[in-house]
Amino acid sequence: MSIKPINVGLLGIGTVGGGTFTVLQRNAEEITRRAGRPIRITMVADRNLDLARKITEGTCRVTDDAFAVVSDPEVDIVIELIGGYGVAKELVMKAISNGKHVVTANKALLATHGNEIFEAAQEQGVMVAFEAAIAGGIPIVKAVREGLTANRIEWVAGIINGTTNFILSEMRDKGLDFDVVLKEAQRLGYAEADPTFDIEGVDAAHKITLLASLAFGIPVQFDKAHIEGISKLDAIDIQYAEQLGYRIKLLGISKRTEEGVELRVHPTLIPSKRLIANVEGAMNAVLVHGDAVGPTLYYGKGAGAEPTASAVIADLVDVTRMHTADPENRVPHLAFQPNAMSDLKILPMDEVQTSYYLRLRVQDKTGALADITRLLADEQISIGAVIQKEPGEGEAQADLILLTHQTREKRINAAIVKIEALGVVAGKVTKLRMEELGK
Ligand code: HSE
Repeated sequence: MSIKPINVGLLGIGTVGGGTFTVLQRNAEEITRRAGRPIRITMVADRNLDLARKITEGTCRVTDDAFAVVSDPEVDIVIELIGGYGVAKELVMKAISNGKHVVTANKALLATHGNEIFEAAQEQGVMVAFEAAIAGGIPIVKAVREGLTANRIEWVAGIINGTTNFILSEMRDKGLDFDVVLKEAQRLGYAEADPTFDIEGVDAAHKITLLASLAFGIPVQFDKAHIEGISKLDAIDIQYAEQLGYRIKLLGISKRTEEGVELRVHPTLIPSKRLIANVEGAMNAVLVHGDAVGPTLYYGKGAGAEPTASAVIADLVDVTRMHTADPENRVPHLAFQPNAMSDLKILPMDEVQTSYYLRLRVQDKTGALADITRLLADEQISIGAVIQKEPGEGEAQADLILLTHQTREKRINAAIVKIEALGVVAGKVTKLRMEELGK
């Protein structure tokens, strides 16, 4: 007797949807052996009907009405690959209220409306699975939610946007300009539909918001994340960092402190000797530090058709296996039982403590360095290293680079205001944050 397949409705057959279709077909036998029953896409919705028909080759129903899929009585699981917070939210909520499980890669939607979505799913006794939403093919949700459950997780730091990592790698390796590299990243299909989400750190912030919730059992709070991208990053700082033994990476960071949870995305200097500093191109990597296990590192492709499909299908298999289980016995959406979530607050950026890289243009004059270090000392900021570059031929100003020990963001900002007011300092101070990521 053959086992009844589980029926899937796919919303959006673009890059990831196409990849999901292909991998499900290619590895059907292997996937069925794991899931216990066949997983079959029975209906696809896409605005581009010709493309949908071409990919599906008559194997399932095709429509341009996504609402028909979420209301179809045959469909057990809806895969949402439309993206964004508009119609995608309506469709996900409708699918849930119709008692369907949802698999989604939509980090923007979950980071902003996740609390409402997970609550609705909880009430309906359905699953919302989102492995593909964070770091593409890397099974980081599975690792944090299930593999590390023994630990008190202390911090998470990740290269979770491939576009920006590709840009930073190419700028450093080839000395190329930002704009040239961005175009290449778009051509290769890494960038979001709106690349400002990548460049300005918004995509990484969506992902670190979700990771923070999984790690610490707090509600998703994207609106409290501090977000800085790489569009203002100067190539000279990539070079100076290199000379000092650091690489600059766009990191999503979330740390548990006694005062609250840090939640931030910004270009960060990390020691070149760290494994994560050597993650190049469009690859992603996430470091998770648990009190029992210590640091653990997860590496892989964070975007692309089949890597992301790998995560989507892993969720399909999970949902298929747990489909008949009592909802109480399933793995909670955000790793912690919904009635055991914590109200740990997100720390305002001013209160965050880290160390800093400062670059200044300074007049080559007696006492200039003393004035600057005095202003730092006034704010109790201790200096770890100082480098002054020789002024260029015929120039009266030189680049001065200072590395500080750990201090509070509001202290460094106060010192910078005073330093910029000094007559010997020309223009603005460049401030970048540094993380050791050792323990
Ligand atoms: N735009 C994203 C990136 C794709 O560059 O990593 C996957 O979320």
